[in-house]
Amino acid sequence: MSTLHFSERQTRQSRTALEIRNDFPIFERPTARGKRLVYLDSAATSQKPNCVIETLDTYYREYNANIHRGVYEIAALATERFEAARASVARFVNCAPGELVWTKNTTEAINLVAYAWGDANLRAKDVILLTEMEHHSNLVPWQLLARRTGAVLRFIPVDPRGVLVLDDLDRLLDGCKILSLAHVGNTLGTISPLERIIPRAHAAGALVVVDGAQAAPHLSVDVAALGCDFYAFSAHKMLGPTGIGALYGRRALLESMPPFLSGGDMIRTVEYEHATFNDPPWKFEAGTSNVADAIAFGTAIAYLTDVGLAWVREHEKRITRYALQRLAELEPRGLVVYGPKDPERMGGVISFNLADAHAHDVASILDTDGVCIRAGHHCTMPLMQRMGWIATARASFYLYTTEDDVDALAAGLEKAARIFKV
Ligand code: ALA
Repeated sequence: MSTLHFSERQTRQSRTALEIRNDFPIFERPTARGKRLVYLDSAATSQKPNCVIETLDTYYREYNANIHRGVYEIAALATERFEAARASVARFVNCAPGELVWTKNTTEAINLVAYAWGDANLRAKDVILLTEMEHHSNLVPWQLLARRTGAVLRFIPVDPRGVLVLDDLDRLLDGCKILSLAHVGNTLGTISPLERIIPRAHAAGALVVVDGAQAAPHLSVDVAALGCDFYAFSAHKMLGPTGIGALYGRRALLESMPPFLSGGDMIRTVEYEHATFNDPPWKFEAGTSNVADAIAFGTAIAYLTDVGLAWVREHEKRITRYALQRLAELEPRGLVVYGPKDPERMGGVISFNLADAHAHDVASILDTDGVCIRAGHHCTMPLMQRMGWIATARASFYLYTTEDDVDALAAGLEKAARIFKV
């Protein structure tokens, strides 16, 4: 690639990402050390645009009320906006509003399936199939389900690049009742080939749960086209607030499943000894819901839709390609990048180590220059063990990431290499 071509491309791409950054007030503030904030930890949580912050502010200032209960004006408005947000989020992943259950986050959504569907349907020796790259949130709930029911866990292996190995899938699916896997891996950014996996799981009689926490913010997700049975995701990774997430569930499954949590709002009738339950999705939403955050999730979805998921994906591929290039320049200093290295097959997540420096030390040095990355096991301890890594440093990108941010990462790593004399 010629230098001229590169700088033309950089200007075009950066201008758009720079415009987007103007919507995010956190980028206006310097760090405590007076540095520009270089935020490369969007896989942990995303930053929030003004419109999301304003939605929360307006709700509490102007129409804070409980939903599905009051007959007065602000209660009706809160209910209307809460349900409108559900409809927006449902449209975003292409399902009906009645198939979209609000949860606290992806973790709670997966627990909901494991408890409500799992306890009712799994028997001793049934197989729960996972992959070797799952986040703890898509592993521990199934371990506990296996313990409660006597079901057994199996794992789709990953190869040394962190790519799923599907050669043995049919054997692994033998006796399988449920397969649960990440759409995009949070540590290595691997994209799972769901279009190849889901039909084979269904043919074997297994339901498929998709952990979409790292995918829904970045890829255009269509649960109907994917054909999955459940799809879980979190607002906070996609410009929305913390404390709200969603579970798509196939209507017939949500209808047949018993409730997860119980109490107010999820019931139809209650007697002292007995209760009947509301229709889905409300059957799974016991107690006062997270009204403000659900409404603000709707605003985040409107913002993302306006930018366009196709643009977000293309932007992240460009940034990932550029970051892989900049990190490759540091290979002589001992920098090793893990995981797939093809932006088509990965999300905007890059894990790496700098020679034998501990990832936490590298992250601390970057922090002194305002560069925020995550370091450690990334809630994937079994994957780290499987790969033989103690910890990795991880940079992750989003629609507001610019090539300047990547340059700051590369400069910080040069500095770390000097400090560690590698
Ligand atoms: N799951 C989040 C991450 O990967 C917290 O950082």
